[in-house]
Amino acid sequence: MWVYLLAAAALLAVWWLHRDRQEVGQVKDKFVFITGCDTGFGNLLAKRLVRRGFRVLAGCLTQKGVDGLQSSNTSTLKAILLDVTDCSSIQKAADWVQAEVGEKGLWGLVNNAGRAIPIGPTEWMKMEDYLKVLNVNLLGLMEVTLTFLPLVKKARGRIVNVASILGRISLAGGGYCLSKSGVESFSDSLRRDMQHFGIQVCIIEPGFFKTAVTNLEGIENDLQRLWDRLSPEVRESYGQNYLAKYMKAQQFSMNILCDGDLSKVTTCMEHALVARHPRSRYAAGWDAKLFWIPLSYMPTRLSDFLLTLLLPKPLQSVQ
Ligand SMILES: NC(=O)c1ccc[n+]([C@@H]2O[C@H](COP(=O)([O-])OP(=O)(O)OC[C@H]3O[C@@H](n4cnc5c(N)ncnc54)[C@H](OP(=O)(O)O)[C@@H]3O)[C@@H](O)[C@H]2O)c1
Repeated sequence: MWVYLLAAAALLAVWWLHRDRQEVGQVKDKFVFITGCDTGFGNLLAKRLVRRGFRVLAGCLTQKGVDGLQSSNTSTLKAILLDVTDCSSIQKAADWVQAEVGEKGLWGLVNNAGRAIPIGPTEWMKMEDYLKVLNVNLLGLMEVTLTFLPLVKKARGRIVNVASILGRISLAGGGYCLSKSGVESFSDSLRRDMQHFGIQVCIIEPGFFKTAVTNLEGIENDLQRLWDRLSPEVRESYGQNYLAKYMKAQQFSMNILCDGDLSKVTTCMEHALVARHPRSRYAAGWDAKLFWIPLSYMPTRLSDFLLTLLLPKPLQSVQ
């Protein structure tokens, strides 16, 4: 009996691997538009897709980003300025992409642009802090998607949305985890609604990687700003040394967690764009697969206990 079960499981695994490795052809005719290509995953993905033969259209927040990508002098890589929080900038980029792709439509839309700060204890936040992050990571992603959807529909293409493992488990206050949880939810409804038109939607869930988003200097400078504007009563409830302890604990965990190999993420994005049968979700990085995803399924008491171990307790904690 066990032998039959094992043989069936092995056959299923072989079938799945075979199916997972099948690729679409003719990538030379396929256009992919990526947001947030100045640095990090977006920048690396743009270069890797060019090497694979795709025609890449890159959105960058800064002129430096545009110039950097265009200096490669590759006719299959073109870049444009794009701020995903600005409707007119999104429309301008969509018109440019429409002119580039013509009747072929857009094979791939990769919503990668994002920011993390302000991030920190919830009580330290104001609404404007949430909006700074939500406007880019969630509302910007939604507006880009809705604006580019007709182009993707024409090509029966793919939408690849970069969420995060923090969209499954909220590790810190501020708009980041909230926005990534929203990206998961938006992508799930989009996938079900657009499957009828041959559009596939994939979610990328990276763990922690060394990029500008996880740069501690920026995060710590912003934490100091949040701390400085707290009322004396709130600051007292945390204790005068709290901020220093918080930063030290954060440095310790980020140094352990952050992976320098960004290709673990771009490989997932590439699979989502070239596979005949792309997956709905891609967890990228050892921490995502072995720690954060299992943790997200644990009982709340246990996951809360483990997560509170990562950060110091406020002075007036009653626990
Ligand atoms: N690194 C990680 O550990 C990690 C983990 C999970 C998910 N992610 C997600 O992965 C994506 C890429 O981040 P990354 O890690 O590669 O960091 P990154 O190097 O900072 O990339 C983010 C890109 O988005 C751009 N951007 C910021 N605001 C924008 C706006 N309003 N409009 C258009 N572009 C904007 C940034 O431009 P500037 O460089 O000019 O600011 C940058 O090029 C983000 O969605 C991030 O949340 C990262």
